[in-house]
Amino acid sequence: MDVQSLRVNGKRLQSSLQQMATIGATPAGGVQRLTLSDEDKRARDLLCTWLRELGCEVVVDEMGNIFGKRAGRDSSLPPVLCGSHVDSQPKGGRFDGILGVMGALEVLRTLHDSKIETKRPIWLVDWTNEEGSRFAPAMVASGVWAGALERDWAYARKDIQGKTQGEELERIGYKGKAAARKVPLHCYWEYHIEQGPMLEREHKVIGAPKGILCLHWYDVYLEGEANQVGPTPMEGRHDALCAAAEMILKVNELPGRMGGNMVATVGELQNYPNSRNIIPDRVHFTVDIRSWDDEHALRSWELVRQDFVAIAERRGCPIRIEETWRVKHSPFDERLVNRVLETATELGLPAMRMVSGAGHDAGYMNQLTSTAMVFVPSIGGRSHVECENTKWEDCEAGANVLLHCILKSANE
Ligand code: GLV
Ligand code: MN
Ligand code: MN
Repeated sequence: MDVQSLRVNGKRLQSSLQQMATIGATPAGGVQRLTLSDEDKRARDLLCTWLRELGCEVVVDEMGNIFGKRAGRDSSLPPVLCGSHVDSQPKGGRFDGILGVMGALEVLRTLHDSKIETKRPIWLVDWTNEEGSRFAPAMVASGVWAGALERDWAYARKDIQGKTQGEELERIGYKGKAAARKVPLHCYWEYHIEQGPMLEREHKVIGAPKGILCLHWYDVYLEGEANQVGPTPMEGRHDALCAAAEMILKVNELPGRMGGNMVATVGELQNYPNSRNIIPDRVHFTVDIRSWDDEHALRSWELVRQDFVAIAERRGCPIRIEETWRVKHSPFDERLVNRVLETATELGLPAMRMVSGAGHDAGYMNQLTSTAMVFVPSIGGRSHVECENTKWEDCEAGANVLLHCILKSANE
């Protein structure tokens, strides 16, 4: 068969995405499939069924990463790895992560239907806990697999209820036997929605990110002094929430103050005892700083950290800061980035280079092997929200780019 004219089945890809979207569906049209929840388990089970139907060998490792292995003509050659994640944010969308897994599955199905053999094996992967929303940090299982993070440290990470990641892996039956340890790879491909506004703004269908911004995560814990809000005078209070409020605005102002290309966000906060008539005596909040320039991100953090210490002192609220996670910015393999652009051109799809502001497991894979990603537009630039959306025709277009990028790699 003429491999050049091979195309994925867009309707089948749509149907797989729609079936997955029923697992953890939220009333407002999104999904809630937090990592290692019952919904995550159901999505994993369905993925494993679909992989076995294709004759793939399914391997689950000790971090719960699922590999669907399609043989190549020469099994001694390092495989082409492709995939993403099936977990979601709380009230997340129907495309983040799952598009990359269903896109890779559609590539395998297309090769299977056309009885196409490749020189190298092709492995699909679903990485555990990409989102990092339930258990911090994100991309923990690709991080362990890559050797950048410790397995037992990852197992011990707790969610807000105090359940550990290791216990939850076991509970849903996805603490596999295989070692979560890197093996030689030929390259890694990840297909994803853009999660930002650039492709739509530039009227492009395909994005070829040159890499991913660095990601720095911090956890801040403040202590105050609880008291009855009525009789306690305003002066002399130690209100942990007011200290946090000042700090949060410092984070929001940081990119404007520092200049350069960076973003800084506080997205999560817990306030205790969280009663309208008690002065808060305990607050936890998170800080997320991203930039293409690692040093710039670190200098920015140092500045805001000094502000935090000064605010805490002035308000008499002791502060504890933990650095939870740090990944350097991740420039992808230029040859593969160009392959995305060339392949899009061959398929008649308008494409552009860009940068990924969102983090991806591709960041850790990039530490091991030649890596690149394929992006398609997010309608209205919205993601990590229930209204997250991408046109079905764009999902199909991106999967065709993925198909031909993978085919080229798998026959090298
Ligand atoms: C991953 O979802 C991220 O935070 O970019
Ligand atoms: Mn994602
Ligand atoms: Mn995400």
